[in-house]
Amino acid sequence: MANERPIGLFDSGVGGLTVAHALHTVLPSEQLVYFGDTAHLPYGDKSKETIQQYSLGIADFLLEQDCKVILIACNSASSNAFEEVRAHVGDRAVVMNVIDPVVEQVCDGRGATCTESIGIIGTKATIDSGTYQEKIRKQAPGVQVSSLATPLFVPMIEEGFVFDDISNAIIRSYLSRNELEGIDSLILGCTHYPIIRNQISRFLNFEVNVLDTARIVALSVQKFLTENDMLASRRAGNNQFYISDFTPSFEVIANMFFNEKIDLQKRNIWI
Ligand code: DGL
Repeated sequence: MANERPIGLFDSGVGGLTVAHALHTVLPSEQLVYFGDTAHLPYGDKSKETIQQYSLGIADFLLEQDCKVILIACNSASSNAFEEVRAHVGDRAVVMNVIDPVVEQVCDGRGATCTESIGIIGTKATIDSGTYQEKIRKQAPGVQVSSLATPLFVPMIEEGFVFDDISNAIIRSYLSRNELEGIDSLILGCTHYPIIRNQISRFLNFEVNVLDTARIVALSVQKFLTENDMLASRRAGNNQFYISDFTPSFEVIANMFFNEKIDLQKRNIWI
């Protein structure tokens, strides 16, 4: 059955598991095939060409797994390689990214006269690409957009510095910058960041709408599958979690990102 084919999703490493978990919660009947390119992470400081090259290789792997959807669960790859992956995959699967659903939600009802201010934080690759900024300006020209690369957040989270003095200091240092002054909403433009969403909201005194990007993406996939009659009626098999390089520490943080114990399998697609 075509609808029972899995949803494939990928990230540079384990960050995309926040999106996988949201998908699993919203769409429990869908089988997921996750690929984390741990052999090449981080993507956040790589060039566009390199991110595109890795993304195309992973798309081929997910096509081999017969995925009906390929969701780029990494902002760095979504902002630098989406069009290339879509052109490469063609009609073999539906290709989605994690940026469009968030932009749609944040711009919903905000026309040219809206004067709200939206902040975006993410990796250097995501912020420097200008993708979020451009897409928001196109949909809601009146909205003020500001952005800031916050590259220390990924290693900070991966090393387990969450809800403690070190993470509080780093969050304060980044979020107090002039670039983000006066924002009404904040887009967490990196799939690692939902882990520190509550901490960020608290730092902002709960006065800024910090978007739950993983859930927004999962709901948008659900809407797409429903509207296109592509929902699986039952889960065809267990969810699969592949990573291109395995270390015990990936296992520990993978469980934190997926919020439950998962079985990581090493699959080096690069050799
Ligand atoms: N999770 C990736 C993203 O959403 C960032 C991690 C990395 O730099 O590889 O951009």
